Amino acid sequence: MSTLTDEQKNLYAGHLHELTQRWEAALAFAGFDAAIVAAGQPGEYFLDDQTTPFRPNPHFAQWVPEDDVAGSALLIRPGERPRLYFYQPADYWHQPPQRPTLTGAHLDLEVCDDPARLHEALASAAAQQNRTAFIGEQEPGNLPVFSVNPALLLSHLHFHRAYKSAFEVHCMRAATALAVAGHRAAGDAFRAGGSEFEIHMAYLAASRQTSDALPYGNIVALNEHGSVLHYQHYDREPPDQSRSFLIDAGGRYRGYAADITRTYAAEGAEHERFAALVAAMDQAQQSMILEIRPGVEYLKLHEDAHRRIAAILSDHGLLRCSAETAFDTGITRTFLPHGLGHLIGLQTHDVGGLQVSPEGGHRAPPEQYPALRLTRTIEEGQVFTIEPGLYFIPQLLDALKDGDLSQLVHWESVDALRGYGGIRIEDNVLVTDNGTINLTRDAFAGHE
Ligand code: GLY
Ligand code: MN
Ligand code: MN
Repeated sequence: MSTLTDEQKNLYAGHLHELTQRWEAALAFAGFDAAIVAAGQPGEYFLDDQTTPFRPNPHFAQWVPEDDVAGSALLIRPGERPRLYFYQPADYWHQPPQRPTLTGAHLDLEVCDDPARLHEALASAAAQQNRTAFIGEQEPGNLPVFSVNPALLLSHLHFHRAYKSAFEVHCMRAATALAVAGHRAAGDAFRAGGSEFEIHMAYLAASRQTSDALPYGNIVALNEHGSVLHYQHYDREPPDQSRSFLIDAGGRYRGYAADITRTYAAEGAEHERFAALVAAMDQAQQSMILEIRPGVEYLKLHEDAHRRIAAILSDHGLLRCSAETAFDTGITRTFLPHGLGHLIGLQTHDVGGLQVSPEGGHRAPPEQYPALRLTRTIEEGQVFTIEPGLYFIPQLLDALKDGDLSQLVHWESVDALRGYGGIRIEDNVLVTDNGTINLTRDAFAGHE
């Protein structure tokens, strides 16, 4: 991890102050007097001695924003400094984890090289309270804890995860800067005629990330592959003709994610129709972002996206009906089958998107939009994605063609675009008191 600036140290101190208040309120609310938060362990492949890449428990990562923390745990007791039991084995097979640089001045640190002793230390700390909650993936063994992953405590914490501290926004900007460097190189590699694999490798190199470090597997899709929403392969050879390129690729910094998608049309008059659709989607996406302010329902933005898609389909000659009819009949759901976006932070699809309050209570998306991951009222401090799409997905198009609404679509035009796969434009925005800051576009502009 690079050297820390004073700004980072100050931001982190402010973040811990907010986090302390949040956790004290959550523990009181859920009726606990302490919490043990375990970072976790990497998984093991079945019948193998190899492990999966490690991703720490996000509740731990919010306090200790480091990746190399397997086996460590945190004790949180209201009124006291959090205590970090840091696991640092004496190991010559692997590089042992380095003590966290950022946390030093703010957390009590107990370094342990023996998991059994670390467990004993936690056990004796837990025994000092009546009601200690344990938060972690693996079972706490014989720790004297009152409850494991209690729903009410998690619910309170998950609801508040939506509101980002200045430190978290700083980390998300840093993650975005990595991703944007990758996106620019990927765009160049596409224009140079690269294969999906070559574009992916160009992305990794320019964003200075290994594939394990990515927040999610890069989606690098040429032509029809853009119609597979989470396309996961990297063809080693370029297609005979590259017509279009959809790249959904992110960055990760101190555990915080950026989630960015761009779509490009190949140069040339024969691709103008698709290029015009990409431009229309880009413009629509930016107009949607202008509608965001505290108090607006995210669901309303999602519905608005469908109205805009209907207008684009109509304007570009893809319908035999009005835009209103396309919206009213739900035809747009064939072209945009996913949600407009999701909360983002320590997880790419961050928790709490369907929660109505800290107590829990879910607001499921309406039946016609089952994939929508965010139904909350928009509030200052939230960070979420805005990622409208317009795809030519064979499975969904064929069902529409075979159904009662088939005559509402201009099939000749739609079928001519199948070879382009689809379009998605995805930015990450921070809600302010009267609008948004677009973290993604700010970073792209900074690179110009
Ligand atoms: N990259 C996954 C998503 O956009 O949600
Ligand atoms: Mn996303
Ligand atoms: Mn994405």
